[in-house]
Amino acid sequence: MSLAETPESTATKHVYIKTHGCQMNISDSEKVLGMLAAEGYRLTDDEAEADLLIANTCSIREKAEDKLFSLLGVWKERKRDNPDVQIAVMGCVAQQEKDKIRARVPSVDVVVGTHNFHELPELLEEARVKGPITRIGNLKAPIPDDMPTVREGKYHAWVPIIYGCSYFCTYCIVPYTRGPYQSRKPDAIEKEVRELIAEGFKEFTLLGQTVDRYGMELAGDEKTTLAALLRRLSAIPGVERIRFITSHPLDMTEELVKTVAELPNVMEYFHFPIQAGSDKVLAEMKRLYTVAQYMEKVELIRKHIPDAVISGDLIVGFPGETEEEFLETLAVVEAVEFDSNNTASYSIRQWTPAGKRDDQLSEDVKADRLQRLNDKVAEVSYRRNRRLVGTIQEVLVEGPSSKNPEVFQGRTRGNKICYFPGDASLEGQIVKVEVTEARPFTLRGEIVKSIVPLQMA
Ligand code: SAH
Ligand code: SF4
Ligand code: F3S
Repeated sequence: MSLAETPESTATKHVYIKTHGCQMNISDSEKVLGMLAAEGYRLTDDEAEADLLIANTCSIREKAEDKLFSLLGVWKERKRDNPDVQIAVMGCVAQQEKDKIRARVPSVDVVVGTHNFHELPELLEEARVKGPITRIGNLKAPIPDDMPTVREGKYHAWVPIIYGCSYFCTYCIVPYTRGPYQSRKPDAIEKEVRELIAEGFKEFTLLGQTVDRYGMELAGDEKTTLAALLRRLSAIPGVERIRFITSHPLDMTEELVKTVAELPNVMEYFHFPIQAGSDKVLAEMKRLYTVAQYMEKVELIRKHIPDAVISGDLIVGFPGETEEEFLETLAVVEAVEFDSNNTASYSIRQWTPAGKRDDQLSEDVKADRLQRLNDKVAEVSYRRNRRLVGTIQEVLVEGPSSKNPEVFQGRTRGNKICYFPGDASLEGQIVKVEVTEARPFTLRGEIVKSIVPLQMA
């Protein structure tokens, strides 16, 4: 059942949730909504009708954090008008900035951390009696399995397999907000996937900050690898598509690449960020690889899967980055021929080693480099997409596009968004689409009417 489908008559209260940040936060929001559905809440997209307002927050960059405080500024007015309205803050800002949140917006009812958000329903009840509560769990605490979950999609599901991160890249806040990495047990993951199949889900994206490190720290017989997990999940009847994000270059193995090449329902898609194109900057970022080592992994992928789609993340304006070092990042976008890249201007994060450096670049220099990087990324992505014109791609149809009800959208095996004329009967099916037009970040095409069965066996 989806929360929005809770019969109005049984729903007593409405919840509005704003989710910032990464897929892990989306997945956590799905769980919170699952628990609240069991308490009789119904999801609303209208803040004004909500009895409960939840912010699930991100602190990866300062801007993400600022978003929370502007949101809370609006919400505290709502609470002033109607004191029965409750406000909760969860996610990475809550975990780390609980005192700042309390100081700036004392009327927030509950502040809850990344490892204990499952306590939210009971804390909301407690806050009604005792007043505002801040409860932040231990970052090493195990994250419970088997929480009720209300999914964002109907056919595609996010499935976390490894939480946290222990890499401590010098710019990054995640290890401080999510704690050391901990893998879920393979049995629990398999159980979740089987349940999702019974509900009609077809595509599964396995999530983790360093997803290719999965299983390595599990004890005894449970010690495993992402490759082994992919084999196990891909054998489950009904699993049509599996993806996994985000891979750390250091943990990418030939065994994993070969497994992706071999299993037909594991997609040929690698989100595999290099972050920068200069060895000096990479060392200072503590990424633990050089450009040459990264390129070796790219070659490994292309050797086994020539048409693999490779995407990544890039940061410009790391402290002390020179113009020449920045140009090396532009060069690496060309050298790898990335299909796409999320780009960011370096943002100072307190607590992190890079945030404490005194050679920070000016906002103007960072903005200029980001613009030039975005132009390069778009140029290379467009070139990659143009290569697909005239090819036939398998697309899992998600639904109508937001702009035109007669145009449908879905994703190719390589995770590219593709638009094509269609109708509602196609939703949830895998269809073959001939690509007729490429844009820098999307494809357009026509469904191929052929005698070839559309659905994979
Ligand atoms: N685990 C993933 C990244 C997770 S964070 C990895 O190792 O690649 C998502 C992205 O945010 C990062 O890849 C990085 O590009 C960006 N990011 C993280 N900290 C940042 C900061 N301080 N300033 C700008 N971008 C940052
Ligand atoms: Fe952050 Fe680095 Fe961990 Fe990725 S690997 S989450 S960038 S510390
Ligand atoms: Fe943001 Fe936390 Fe994800 S900082 S990117 S929500 S792990």
